[in-house]
Order: sequence, then structure tokens, then C-alpha cells
Amino acid sequence: MAEFSTTGGVTRLGSTQRQDAWWIELLPVIVVLGGFGLYATLRAFEGKFYEWGPYISPFYSPLIDAQHRWWPFSPAILILGGPLGFRATCYYYRKAYYRAFFLDPPACAVGEPSGRKYRGETAFPFILQNLHRYFFYLAVLFLCFLWYDAVVAFRFPEGFGIGVGSLVMLANVLLLSTYTFSCHSLRHLVGGKLDCFSCGTFGPPRHSAWRLVTFLNERHMLWAWMSLFSVGLTDLYIRLLAAGYFKDIRIL
Ligand code: FES
Repeated sequence: MAEFSTTGGVTRLGSTQRQDAWWIELLPVIVVLGGFGLYATLRAFEGKFYEWGPYISPFYSPLIDAQHRWWPFSPAILILGGPLGFRATCYYYRKAYYRAFFLDPPACAVGEPSGRKYRGETAFPFILQNLHRYFFYLAVLFLCFLWYDAVVAFRFPEGFGIGVGSLVMLANVLLLSTYTFSCHSLRHLVGGKLDCFSCGTFGPPRHSAWRLVTFLNERHMLWAWMSLFSVGLTDLYIRLLAAGYFKDIRIL
């Protein structure tokens, strides 16, 4: 088979034979992912305005050492590693931030910075990306806490109720669940690694689970962005509420 050079044999950064505005795809990633990273860092270190009534910010859940008995810093720092590690090692986000922030490469068939030795994810630090499947298990644990928080968000001092915050927290955990359960690692786990479903044990139920995860997985990028927005907006809603900028509207 003939050798085909997608960049026309030139390896200068940005060199390409593509005629379209390939760089446009990078802008939302830089703005949204960069903005979210900045906001999440500031909020995690802020260490206050993370609770209001039955609501708790997803950045602070589960709340560990809220009284600062043994941990003098923001409680969010104690748990940040789990969700951050899950997103940072996600197959989709890897593609997005390798392109947008490392220009490695900036896009399909576009030249990357020359002089770099390509080692893929076989050497430190990028070999750590292989921990993704373990971060997935951790993410499921975090989801349990967030589902608990979402249920508690409907319990007010006078009993069951629905506030705008309750719905915001419910929508957030639903989107986080679709993002988590559309993970490539889960798809591999439930059946992606099998050649034949009917040959192994639990073939039919595994096939059904695999089809469901595949349906979600085909939209993984969508869930990744929607859940990123929902986490940030849920935290912002609770932060503004706790800081007294507005009142929560009770629907019921
Ligand atoms: S591949 Fe994106 S969360 Fe697992």
C-alpha cells in the first residue's frame, strides 16, 4: 500500500492540505474547558458557600470535615482528585485537550510541533492515562453520593418539597450518570472485549447491557459537555444562593 502523508510531507506546526477552518473546533474547548478549570479551581479553594438548606455543591460532595477539625483547608481539596482524575483521563477529553492545549496534533491531518519524539501514552506522565478504568470505579462511588444529595435536596425542614435547586441537582446527577455510564471503559467491561456473547456466561443480559452502554457511548462527547456545564452551573446556583444573591424558588 502506498504511503500517504496527511500533512503533505511537511511537519511544521499547522501545515496541512485541509481547506476548511479546522482551528474553529479548538476555540470552544479552550474557552469552555479552560474556563471551567479556572472556575473549579477557584471554587475548590474558596472553602465556603457550598451549602444552602438541603442543597450541597457537587464540588464539595461528599462533605468531609466541614468543621475543619483536622483539615485546615477547603474540604473540596480532599475529594477533588476523584472527579478530576476521571475527566482528565477520559478518552474524549484527552483528544480534546491534547489538540486544544498541546496542539499535539491541533487537528486531524494538521502538522504538530516538530522535534517532538512521539511516545504516545507509554511513558510518564501520560502513561497515567491508563488509570482511567480505576477512576471509573471511583466515579461510580461519587455518583452514589451525588444521587443521595439529589434525593436529600427534596427534603426541607417542613417535609417533602421541590425547589429550583432540587431540580437543578437532579438534572445534574442525571447528566453525570449518562456521562459516567457512557464511558468507553464500561463498554469494554460489559461486553466490548467479547468476540461472542452467546458463547460465554450471562451472554443475553451482557448483550443487552452492552447495547444500552453503546447507545450512550455513541453520544459520549455530548454527555461530557452537558455534564461539565451542569456541574459548574449547579455549583454556581448553590454558591449564589448561599451567598444571599437571590432566594430559592419553591415550586411545591
Ligand atoms: S471514556 Fe470518557 S469517561 Fe470514560
